[in-house]
Parts: sequence; C-alpha cells; structure tokens
Amino acid sequence: MAGLSVVETEQTAGSAGAGLRVENVTHVFETGAESLMALKGVSLDVEAETFYGIVGPSGCGKSSLLLMMAGLLLPSEGRIAVGDKTVSKPLPEEIGVVFQESSLLPWKTARENVEFPLYLRGIDRRVRERAALEMLELVGLGEFANHRPHELSGGMKQRVAIARGFCQDPDILLMDEPFAALDEQTRMTLGDELLHLWDRNKKTVVFVTHSLTEAVYLCDKVAVMSARPGEILEIVDIDLPRPRTYDMMATEKFGRLRARIWELIRRTQQR
Ligand SMILES: Nc1ncnc2c1ncn2[C@@H]1O[C@H](COP(=O)(O)OP(=O)(O)OP(=O)(O)O)[C@@H](O)[C@H]1O
Ligand SMILES: [Mg+2]
Repeated sequence: MAGLSVVETEQTAGSAGAGLRVENVTHVFETGAESLMALKGVSLDVEAETFYGIVGPSGCGKSSLLLMMAGLLLPSEGRIAVGDKTVSKPLPEEIGVVFQESSLLPWKTARENVEFPLYLRGIDRRVRERAALEMLELVGLGEFANHRPHELSGGMKQRVAIARGFCQDPDILLMDEPFAALDEQTRMTLGDELLHLWDRNKKTVVFVTHSLTEAVYLCDKVAVMSARPGEILEIVDIDLPRPRTYDMMATEKFGRLRARIWELIRRTQQR
C-alpha cells in the first residue's frame, strides 16, 4: 500500500512486531469505602503477530484488563510490558484501541476520522489522506469517505473505527467487543474483513468477545477467564489452519474447541 508504506517506514525504527506481556496483574477498584477486586494474578504472554482472544463471563474484568494494556488504567499489582517497556501511559505508536462503540468524532468525515491518529503524529496531510482513503477502500467504504458518522450505519461506523485502528498502524491493536452492537451477518462479514486486514498488515491483536464462535474463528489462542475476580482458567490453542473459512465452523474440531471454552465458562459461572 503506497500511502501506508510511507508511514510504516517512519515507524519501523520502533518496536516492530512487538508482543505484549501481562505479568501477575491484580486490579482492585477503590470506590469510597468499598473496594472491588476485578482481576487477580492474571498473566498472559501475547506473542507478536498473534490474534489473541479473551473471553469470560460478564464483569470478570476483560475491559479493565484491556484498559491496563492500553495504559489507560494502572494495575494495583503486577506489570504490563511491550518488549522491555512497562506500559504506564498510552503509547499511541505501539498500541491502538478499538472499542465497542466506535467513538468516532461526529463532526469529522469518515476519512478525517481514519487519518486522525496520523494527524496527531504530525504526518504530512497528503500522506495521511492517501493512507486513510486506502484503508477505507480496504473496508469497502471508499465511496463514503466524505460522509459523517451520523450518515453511516452501525456496521459502517465500526468499519471506520477498525480502519482508523489499522491506519494508526500500531504494533498492537486492542479490540474490546468491536462487533458487539452489530447483527450476526454484519459481524461475520466484519470478522472476515478483519482477518483479511490482519493478514495484510500483521499486527498483534488482542480481541475481547462474548461470541465463542467468533473467538474460535478469528483467534490463534483464546484466554478463558473465570468469573470475578477474573483469573485465567485456561489458554486454549486454536490450532485450525489459516486462512479460516466458514466451512471450518461445521467441523468436529471447531465444535470441540468451542465446547471446551463453553465448558470452562459454564463451570465458572456456577461457582
Ligand atoms: N471504574 C470502575 N470503578 C469501579 N468498579 C469498576 C470500574 N470499572 C469496572 N468496575 C468493576 O470491575 C468489574 C470488571 O468490570 P469490566 O468492565 O472490566 O468487566 P468485563 O469483563 O469487561 O464485563 P463485560 O463482559 O460485561 O463487558 C465489574 O464488577 C465492574 O463493576
Ligand atoms: Mg467489557
């Protein structure tokens, strides 16, 4: 991609192909006199360029963990690191975030939203415009580059947010239920588009979802968390070949992997 490669050249001096390590992280929220332990002793080794899923019951601390990975919340104990660097504040060149609600700037067009992280980095206007347009083409929104968010459907807005995440071009992209507000058909399509983008611009992706099918379909590994306080119950290896195809969902292996994750979640919900 001509436009992006200019941006990439500037970035390759950084921690290219970085992974992320979560080391024995505990988080306690202090609210007035009360304290609530959200996470307990969580350790994960997210290797560079893997597609890493996190699943677990509602309230088990997945979003809190992602906020800590993004440097937006500090662990009470333990450490999160990218390479040798401890994550203690947002690191926009290394770590990008895509949330469930797309959080686009409503007064900016789709293209302006996508190029915004490059604007913040002081990238030349023509370079960032070209990069944003190419990214929008890749997610099928080339014709909507000049539309504002209120003129787009929910699925289109999430596509813009994903395009923005990739355009920012961090080594690590954290995604907190990016498809949760979408219907099943749109989320299946977007899942495939995301895999396609990931295949072309290899990144380390950490992907939180409630959909076990989505987790198995997209990920290389899935960390299954217990009910609050969230602990890691098991890291399930998704040893399905790539590229992933829809017919894999009907295979016995896919069913077995999904059933294993469901069994762990069902048991922790009952405890
Ligand atoms: N800012 C906060 N202050 C106090 N408590 C919080 C805060 N954020 C989250 N919590 C609590 O921490 C626990 C974990 O919340 P979190 O949002 O991380 O869960 P989650 O796994 O993302 O849930 P869901 O699947 O529903 O999105 C919950 O009990 C929640 O009430
Ligand atoms: Mg959450």
